[in-house]
Amino acid sequence: MRLERCGPGDVAAVAAFLSEVDLTSSGLDAPGVRLWFARDEQGAVVGSTGYEVSGDGRHALIRSVAVNPAQRSRGRGSALARFALYRAAAEGATTAWLFSRRSGPFWQSLAFEPADRHDLAHVLGETHQVRLFRSSGQLDRETAWRRTLTDDGVR
Ligand SMILES: CC(C)(COP(=O)(O)OP(=O)(O)OC[C@H]1O[C@@H](n2cnc3c(N)ncnc32)[C@H](O)[C@@H]1OP(=O)(O)O)[C@@H](O)C(=O)NCCC(=O)NCCS
Repeated sequence: MRLERCGPGDVAAVAAFLSEVDLTSSGLDAPGVRLWFARDEQGAVVGSTGYEVSGDGRHALIRSVAVNPAQRSRGRGSALARFALYRAAAEGATTAWLFSRRSGPFWQSLAFEPADRHDLAHVLGETHQVRLFRSSGQLDRETAWRRTLTDDGVR
């Protein structure tokens, strides 16, 4: 997948894609959100990946990792996740976190381990996704994951 950085003119298309795959689609243009996406030959969005960083830059909240259902199980999701991990590490993050209720085995294959959602919310409290999940009550229903980032981002 060839990734493009999501700019203001792309937000609506990426938000529509994220809604289709049942991920949070708000706040994509919030400060601190880094987001990339891929299109197919017809121009439809078929993949996305990104993260938000904590104020001190040490923690990254991976979000919006998704693949069009028709293109899954071919390694694309792992490649998209690794891209976000690599970029977050290159930016200086030393720990990656995420919320995922349904895709735990996928994230475990990328060295994520179960984490306390309140620890996540503490270190990444300023991010759009944590503020949204706190205000909506979704935080208490979420499953959190974390992993250390090495200098090369991923293993
Ligand atoms: C999670 C997701 C990105 C994986 O994309 P993908 O292109 O299929 O990923 P890969 O091909 O690299 O890896 C697939 C493997 O991950 C594991 N996996 C992925 N999703 C899984 C799930 N929900 N439950 C259990 N295992 C899962 C499986 O081992 C799978 O292997 P299989 O296809 O042989 O069964 C994709 O399923 C998706 O877009 N899901 C909806 C959005 C989402 O939940 N994103 C994560 C939260 S940010």
